[in-house]
Amino acid sequence: MLLPDIVKIREVAPRDGFQSLKVFLPTKKKLLIINAILDANIREIEATSFVSPSAIPQFKDAPELVAKLPRQSITYAALVPNLRGASDAIKAHIDRLVVVISATEAHNQENVRRSISESIADLDAIFALARAHETPVTGSVSVSFGCPYQGDVPQKDVYNLVNAYISRGATSVMLADTTGMATPNRVEHMVVYFQDKFPDINLILHFHNNRGTAMANLLAAIKVGANSFDTSLGGIGGCPYVPQAAGNLPTEDVVFMLEDMGIKTGINLESIIKAAHLLEKTLGYTLPGQVMKSGPRDPRLAAKIHNLS
Ligand code: COA
Ligand code: ZN
Repeated sequence: MLLPDIVKIREVAPRDGFQSLKVFLPTKKKLLIINAILDANIREIEATSFVSPSAIPQFKDAPELVAKLPRQSITYAALVPNLRGASDAIKAHIDRLVVVISATEAHNQENVRRSISESIADLDAIFALARAHETPVTGSVSVSFGCPYQGDVPQKDVYNLVNAYISRGATSVMLADTTGMATPNRVEHMVVYFQDKFPDINLILHFHNNRGTAMANLLAAIKVGANSFDTSLGGIGGCPYVPQAAGNLPTEDVVFMLEDMGIKTGINLESIIKAAHLLEKTLGYTLPGQVMKSGPRDPRLAAKIHNLS
């Protein structure tokens, strides 16, 4: 098995994790969590969304939050659902846009209240604006591996969106398993297919754990050459427009596994576990992450971390 030397992790807890919190997390508390994430040496964070506050009230502070982010050669990305979001995010000086469109009509309607072709109609203007401000764009395809409303998603529908992004200049494309419907064979097939179609594109994979397959999916993807993943501190996360949404892959679990396999993430395991504990205290309930509970392999380090929590 040929494994990569390095895997890139994008931390998405401040966006994917916070979006479905029932209670507004004050900007100050969000910044404390982001600072703890930075202490673990994470280089890219999806920090917020520029969305309608009536759709996702949690992100009503997006411009204020972005203005207060500590700037230290970190890339901060924000999710945008339309041109208005892209324009607001660029005004706020975000480093990267993550444009979101779903591969099925049903989920796109639920999520952004438009048809796929209406969403695509915004792309020319979004990419032109981003280009004018030298802001790179990631194109995200929600429900790439299955849809809670439609079920199976034809690969050509995922392809059409990926192609729409790449033909307009996206520097990376994210395939999101929004609903945790992927399994290793499906992942392997999808990664090989898109690597073949678009060999130069940076492919990011975003796995949810609704059915317990997320870590197996990550390993399947790595085995066929994927090296870029979204993960979320403590394993929090989930789309508000998915019934029974479940969390993302916990960042600290992924760091633990990959580093032990000799794959570098650049992330400090002890510090990311500390950040997960801070998040758990802040949110006030038990998070799904496993390594934050059991600790690293080194028994002394594990004991030290247990004493802290
Ligand atoms: N940011 C802030 N406000 C926005 C906005 C954005 N990106 N896009 C639209 N709005 C505002 C409009 O200006 C309008 O305001 P007004 O009522 O004061 O005039 C209002 O929202 C409604 O606009 P409309 O175009 O009719 O939007 P909508 O109600 O159909 O909602 C979205 C569409 C995309 C804005 C909304 O569904 C949304 O923000 N979805 C986010 C979904 C998400 O983040 N999902 C989880 C991640 S995958
Ligand atoms: Zn997600």
